[in-house]
Order: sequence, then C-alpha cells, then structure tokens
Amino acid sequence: MSRHILVTGAGGMLGSRLLTVLGTVNPGNTEDLEVTENDNAGNLVTGWSYRRPLPGLQRIEATSRAQVDRYFAEHLPQVCVHCVAAPDVQACERDPRMAHLLNAASTENVAQACARHGTKLVYLSTEYVFDGSSRDGYREDDAPNPLQTYGETKLLGERYAAQVPGALTVRLPVLYGDPVPGRTPTWLEAMLEALEQGRPVDLDDHYERQPTWSHDVAAVLARVIADDLTGVLHVAAQEGATKYVWGRAVAEAAGLPSALLRPSRPSPGATGGARRPERPWLRTDRLESLGLRPPAGIHRRAADYLRSTSTSTSTSGSTPGQASAGR
Ligand SMILES: NC(=O)c1ccc[n+]([C@@H]2O[C@H](COP(=O)([O-])OP(=O)(O)OC[C@H]3O[C@@H](n4cnc5c(N)ncnc54)[C@H](OP(=O)(O)O)[C@@H]3O)[C@@H](O)[C@H]2O)c1
Repeated sequence: MSRHILVTGAGGMLGSRLLTVLGTVNPGNTEDLEVTENDNAGNLVTGWSYRRPLPGLQRIEATSRAQVDRYFAEHLPQVCVHCVAAPDVQACERDPRMAHLLNAASTENVAQACARHGTKLVYLSTEYVFDGSSRDGYREDDAPNPLQTYGETKLLGERYAAQVPGALTVRLPVLYGDPVPGRTPTWLEAMLEALEQGRPVDLDDHYERQPTWSHDVAAVLARVIADDLTGVLHVAAQEGATKYVWGRAVAEAAGLPSALLRPSRPSPGATGGARRPERPWLRTDRLESLGLRPPAGIHRRAADYLRSTSTSTSTSGSTPGQASAGR
C-alpha cells in the first residue's frame, strides 16, 4: 500500500537514510532483513530539515506548535517518522532546556498533530531510558529508569507518543552511519582520520554497547511501517562491543593500524557529565517473534559501513576537526 510518509529530522543520520529507504523500491542491504521489494513501492516520502536547508525538504521548527500544526493541516501525512531529537547525551546534560525542547516538546507537538489527523506516529527512542543494571537486558515492557537528561527527555517523548492511537515506539542502541554534511565528525570518523595520520587514539574499553548500522535500522523500520506494527519494539544488534572493540573492528576492516588504538577505562571518582547506564542491553525477542532477524553486529558490518561512507564522503563536504562528544 503506498502512503504519504513524513520523516522529521530528515537531514540527520537516520532520517536521511530513511528518506532513501522508504521511498525506493529496493532499499538494498536487505539480505538479512526480509524487506521485500514491494513493501514501500510508490510511497510519497516528504521530510523536514531545520538548520540546514536541503533541496526537497521543508524547513520546519519542530518545537513550534504553530508550524507543526500548519504543516499537518496542509499536507495530511498518513505516517510520521519522528527523527527530530538532540541525541548527544553530554550536550543534553549541559543544556537540559534544549534537550527538553527537542526530545520532549517537539514530540508532544508532533504527537498531538498525529492524533488530530489520524496520522500513524513512529517515534525513535533509546536504550538510555533504562538504567543498565539488569544482567539479562531489557524487553519492551521492562520498567524504564533513566539516569540522565537525555534518557529522561526521550522517555517523556515516549509518553507523548503512547497517547497517539496505533503509535509505534522503536528503541535503538548507539548507531553509526553515513557522515552528515557540515557536521562535526563522529568519533569513528575522527578515529579513522587519526589512524590515517599515524596518531594514537584512546577508546573506552569498559561500557559494552550494541553498535548498530543506521542502514539496518532503516530497513527494519521500512518493514514494520509497511506492516503497521504498534506498541514498542527494540531494534538492536545482538553483538556487544566497547568503543575500543568497535573501533578495532572498523580500523581492521579499513586496513589501518589498529595497534594505535589504546583501551581506556573510566577514571575512578570522575564526576561531571551525564551518568552512563552500565549495560542497557536491548533484547530483541519481539523483533524475532515477528520473523525478523536483529541487525548484524559490528564485525559483520564494518566493511559495509566503510564502503557506504566512502561513497557518501565524496559528496558530503564534512569538515574534519574535533570529534563530537556524542555518548
Ligand atoms: N544516533 C544515535 O546513536 C541514536 C541512538 C539511539 C536513538 N537515537 C534516536 O534516533 C533518532 C534519530 O537520531 P539521529 O542520530 O539520526 O539524529 P541526528 O542526526 O542528530 O538528527 C536529528 C535531526 O533533528 C533535526 N532538528 C534539530 N533541531 C530541530 C528543530 N528545532 N526543528 C526541526 N528539526 C530539528 C536536525 O535537523 P537539522 O540538521 O536540519 O538542523 C537533525 O536532522 C533520534 O530520535 C535519536 O534520539 C539515535
């Protein structure tokens, strides 16, 4: 069934991939994910950007209720995938007002517009809604208990989304993907640049995460949107890796000297910054019960990621420099 799908935050890492995948007949990289060629054929996909004007995208300030309401009343999207967010955990801790506006208030605006116009809402959330103390990981119905501003404001967003009939909330772990033009390089991009120049890089070897490729997430989203799934769904690679393990996998796939990577540990008694959950592992029992395999882990995807970034960097114009703080 073809529909009008709106992607908010369509210039971002996940949103830009979704624009491609939701609007194309064959999104590629689907061998593990069972996205069929007809899932999204014929969709009309529109997107919002904000700071960065992009061809074909509407400039909408998602924290302005009036702008959001006007867009929905004029365009009547049937599905809205809400990617607008402030996903930088440390930046959210430094500026809780900004975090609340982007993660919670923008979602309230979009959720109310969706409810008013019968639009299906797909909200993207995070493993940081959990405190990370469970040894067995987290299922969709486990109780959230965020430890920092990012998790708190994303959880508020979940609560707004849950008020929209038929909404789907998809919780994700830390993502990697194609460079976003004009943005500070991610830690992975900065690491690759340092290794190319023969400089050593210290990487955390304590916190285990589930690095997941944005292309794989987009492919799963395409499938579950086509199937009109509701409720909460975890989408996460089931391979754990610290930043050090993750960095090594990418460096080795790139043929760069991984011996220049040095494992580091959080310094005892360090204060300041956002509290990090120890191991907020997202279990994917529900995804698997739907017949979908979880996205592949970093050792399997490192080469795909590098191939994709080398294609997109040739057109991105992103500026090298200091890496973004991220998580
Ligand atoms: N990245 C991760 O590791 C990760 C992990 C778990 C969950 N998630 C969730 O996945 C979703 C997508 O994340 P992402 O990494 O793709 O984020 P992203 O690259 O930072 O994209 C966020 C988008 O929000 C837009 N935006 C910011 N302020 C806005 C405003 N006031 N009005 C309208 N748009 C605004 C930005 O548009 P402009 O650039 O045009 O300003 C940007 O394109 C988020 O909900 C995030 O919380 C991400």
